[in-house]
Amino acid sequence: MRKIVSPLSFSRVAALLLACGLGASAKGVEGIATQPFGTTADGVPVQLYTMTNAHGMKASVTNYGAIVVELTAPDRTGHFDDVVLGFSKLDTYLHGSPYFGAIVGRFGNRIANGRFTLDGKTYTLATNDHPGNTPCALHGGVKGFDKRVWKAEPVTRKNDKGVKLSLRSPDGEEGYPGNLDVTVTYWLTANNELKIDYSATTDKATPVNITHHGYFNLKGEGKGDILDHEVTLHASRFTPVDKGLIPTGKLQPVKGTPFDFTKPHTIGERVNTNDVQLLNGGGYDHNWVLDRKKTDGKKLTLAAEVQEPTTGRRMEVWTNEIGVQFYSGNFLDGHFTGKGGAPYIKRSGLCLETQHFPDSPNQKAFPTTILKPGQTYQSTTIYRFSAR
Ligand code: GLA
Repeated sequence: MRKIVSPLSFSRVAALLLACGLGASAKGVEGIATQPFGTTADGVPVQLYTMTNAHGMKASVTNYGAIVVELTAPDRTGHFDDVVLGFSKLDTYLHGSPYFGAIVGRFGNRIANGRFTLDGKTYTLATNDHPGNTPCALHGGVKGFDKRVWKAEPVTRKNDKGVKLSLRSPDGEEGYPGNLDVTVTYWLTANNELKIDYSATTDKATPVNITHHGYFNLKGEGKGDILDHEVTLHASRFTPVDKGLIPTGKLQPVKGTPFDFTKPHTIGERVNTNDVQLLNGGGYDHNWVLDRKKTDGKKLTLAAEVQEPTTGRRMEVWTNEIGVQFYSGNFLDGHFTGKGGAPYIKRSGLCLETQHFPDSPNQKAFPTTILKPGQTYQSTTIYRFSAR
């Protein structure tokens, strides 16, 4: 017989939750819930941490790959949808994911030929990607940070809920020098933001370029392509690439090209233009040089804005990084089935990976990505959600 839950018991539950620091709001229980999320192939149990803020926005993070599995955002009617691509089961991530929602590193994005020289020594990395049949190292190698189990602990700060993830990347892992200690903290703030704080220290000089590889669809994950999303990139220049998606070293003005997003343009408007850079990338898959002043230092500035017309959802990306990789999901092809059961078709998600420039260890003219003993790598990015 179905047990009738009297209204009193709900308020009693709410009172109990309030007593233990969890607010109960109409839109769900504010706080951080932890639950098992399966075990890896070598039997390591991983967890899922679900943060809910007072507005009912949710962010769920697993300590496998520091992956954001779910992130909800309100539309103009206040209705929340999950706006990030991913899977509902750990197993699916384990069987291959194009970095959906993951933290990528030690060096996010590409390093030409899987090789770099540092202090006179040449280091060889796995060449785990071959765009245009050109081998390169991508996103930290065969078992990069997206495939590691991180230590995790829930944290709170005023009205923000967080998950602090830490990882030791040992000397020589994936060919990189130095024991690197990494901390990434995801905060779900009271202002409907996913804030990501990155820090790292090393005992030997090493390249470091860590970023979040979330794929966003502001209509909702699995609800078609992102070609109608209107994008603004606060960047007057970008780094053009060769057929292997490796920067040529130039910082090219975007003016007069399909890469000019200094004013809003939909992704679909020019993505299929017969432009050599779009042909090389199979669409947008490039690093933009953010317009930052010399005096900006580590100040957060507005890097990108995305507006989706049918739901009114809006995402702003603020960062203290110098570049952002805008990737229009060109390699998606319907092979992956998403959380809602829909195939992730071509360009059904966009990435805005804040970063230093790709292949920096081989490009002397690019700002350095070498972290030395005694220095602290620090980076912050905020993905802020609202609706119009
Ligand atoms: C980055 C790269 C893309 C692609 C994705 C992962 O965004 O720039 O070329 O490799 O990662 O699929």
